[in-house]
Amino acid sequence: MKILALQGSPRKKGNTNRILDEMIKGAQDNGHEVIKYYLEKLDINPCSGCEICAKGKDCRYDDDGAEIINQLAEGASVILASPIYFGQMTAQAKTIVDRFYSIFNNPDKKFAGKAAMIFTHAYPDKDIYETYIKLTEAQPFLNNTELEYIETLEVAGVKFIGDADKAEDDLKKAYEIGQKF
Ligand SMILES: Cc1cc2nc3c(=O)[nH]c(=O)nc-3n(C[C@H](O)[C@H](O)[C@H](O)COP(=O)(O)O)c2cc1C
Repeated sequence: MKILALQGSPRKKGNTNRILDEMIKGAQDNGHEVIKYYLEKLDINPCSGCEICAKGKDCRYDDDGAEIINQLAEGASVILASPIYFGQMTAQAKTIVDRFYSIFNNPDKKFAGKAAMIFTHAYPDKDIYETYIKLTEAQPFLNNTELEYIETLEVAGVKFIGDADKAEDDLKKAYEIGQKF
């Protein structure tokens, strides 16, 4: 299976990246091909709402986002990884999520494969983001794609680069989720 690992933190060597790499390792050890995308450095236009996809046409943007979207439409699985910024995923992550619309809204395209998410945040408790994470599992994943949803890994209490190295339980869990692809 091909898996696209979408790294939505602007910190290239930050906590999200550390946890994501462990999930990637789990998937690779299970024989899957993983392509990692560092979203911050890619040219990804936000969805313009032009609705051309509703007519069965490809997205108007032929950018790095199209490279990701085309593979998803061909059946690739996906890991979406992002830190929490003011209670939500980063702008980098949301920009590619909105481009999922060009598959969801296209009568001739659909998703296949599996999906998982990673959220990291500094706040030490998990209850505060429960509603947001449930909503994000529902949309886009459960409600708007045919992807088989595996699980969300929420890593709490990580703020500075390197904090995730100490999150041994979460690193182990990330690897285990990777193995579920
Ligand atoms: C702009 C900004 C907003 C943030 N907002 C939140 C927040 O709402 N809640 C929280 O717990 N942490 C928040 N954080 C902290 C990050 O989620 C935390 O440092 C995370 O580990 C960063 O992941 P990274 O190392 O992969 O970049 C914020 C950090 C930044 C830079």
